[in-house]
Amino acid sequence: MTTTLVVFGVSGDLAARKLMPALYWLLAENKLPPDFHLIGAARREVTVDGLIDKTKQYVGDSADPAVLERLRSLMQVIRMDSGDADDYEQLKTALGTIEEGAGDANRLFYLSVPPTVAGKVVNAFKTVGLNDVPNITTRLLMEKPFGDDLASAKELAGHLHGAFKEEQIYRIDHYVAKEIAQNLTALRFHNPILEALWNHEYIERIEIEASEKIGIEGRVDFYEQTGALRDLIQSHLLALMALATMEPPADDAPASLHEARAQVIRAVTPFNAATVTKAALRGQYDVYKEEVGKPDSFVETYARLELQIDNDRWRGIPIIVQTGKGLDAKRSEIRIFFKSGAPAAPDRLSFVLAPDEGITLQLAGKQPGLSHILAPLELAYKPKEGRQADSYERVLFEAIAGDQTNFTSNDEVLATWEVVEPVLQAWLRDGEGLRIYPFGSNGPA
Ligand code: BG6
Repeated sequence: MTTTLVVFGVSGDLAARKLMPALYWLLAENKLPPDFHLIGAARREVTVDGLIDKTKQYVGDSADPAVLERLRSLMQVIRMDSGDADDYEQLKTALGTIEEGAGDANRLFYLSVPPTVAGKVVNAFKTVGLNDVPNITTRLLMEKPFGDDLASAKELAGHLHGAFKEEQIYRIDHYVAKEIAQNLTALRFHNPILEALWNHEYIERIEIEASEKIGIEGRVDFYEQTGALRDLIQSHLLALMALATMEPPADDAPASLHEARAQVIRAVTPFNAATVTKAALRGQYDVYKEEVGKPDSFVETYARLELQIDNDRWRGIPIIVQTGKGLDAKRSEIRIFFKSGAPAAPDRLSFVLAPDEGITLQLAGKQPGLSHILAPLELAYKPKEGRQADSYERVLFEAIAGDQTNFTSNDEVLATWEVVEPVLQAWLRDGEGLRIYPFGSNGPA
């Protein structure tokens, strides 16, 4: 069995920073299938040597020359224009040569391209017959954004489903694939002591945060069209919210998990004009306008929503999702605040995705020493020492294995767009209520 991964957008930043290093580590740790090949497709002129050099740079000092050499040997690049049918013929030929005499084959097409290009590429796959070939397992791995708003997300879904079945489509959410995010469901569903408390009677509020110290890092066009609400909340943070709040799935099938996540997202109380003003807050760091060269830009670099889930488990409990760039610290966390008998030492379970991965349970305990004063007492878990696999390693490993569990379904994607759409439309209209905060601070007051 031959497996070929075709990366569209191989010359891009994501491929350099995440994908190629992830492939390096999978190869180094013998986690790629035996007969594995990599085709990098890009519109720009790129070379295998150039890509390997970048991989070396991003893997860092520990990069082993022998592994880099193996990676080089299984890789080729093709120059492709997504709109040119002849270029797809060239890709077909390359795949045919790799697979010749191999019997069954696995193909994964990884799209790291803007949504409008993604639509074109999948339509072209259909035209040239790359979407469905007898004896070949064909999968489509896709990067966000899955649309720019609800309407374009539906349009993209139409293109995707015109060429591929939902079981063939692997939509990536690298937050869901993070090690500690996996523990949200593992801990909840396998420890009755937690599941028994996992509801509005014992939980006071839930906070889901992704703060970054970095700014937009030169991605002016991308960010001007995106903003924090779409970049982090519509995608990653609502997916984490779903993991934290969903009902137990009917069974272990990936589709059941996806359905449980979609259901709880659909249960979020829709925003209206009044609640957008009250429960949605946006900010922009002070040097943003200058950075993007647009004195009138009101694109948000910070967003915070207070959500309510209208079901028996969560009714009345605030779920706060917040994200920002140019803040004082990198912090990706899910914090579950339990109702507490000791306000000075509230009970809190924190899932820390970054910077120091781990899980901590803070409980009210006794301050050490002769006093009887209550103080927070912390029980902490850290995953194993040493190198932690990046979430992109899991993404690639599981897509190659055909396991859709940690990917996102079309229903989930559309449900998240439904949640943010009223906020998005209000925020796109004008800059009313946008709060400016100093770069490097803790965000809008
Ligand atoms: C990406 C966003 O999805 O996630 C970026 O497009 C953001 O703007 C990044 O910086 C953060 O990911 P991580 O894994 O570094 O927290």
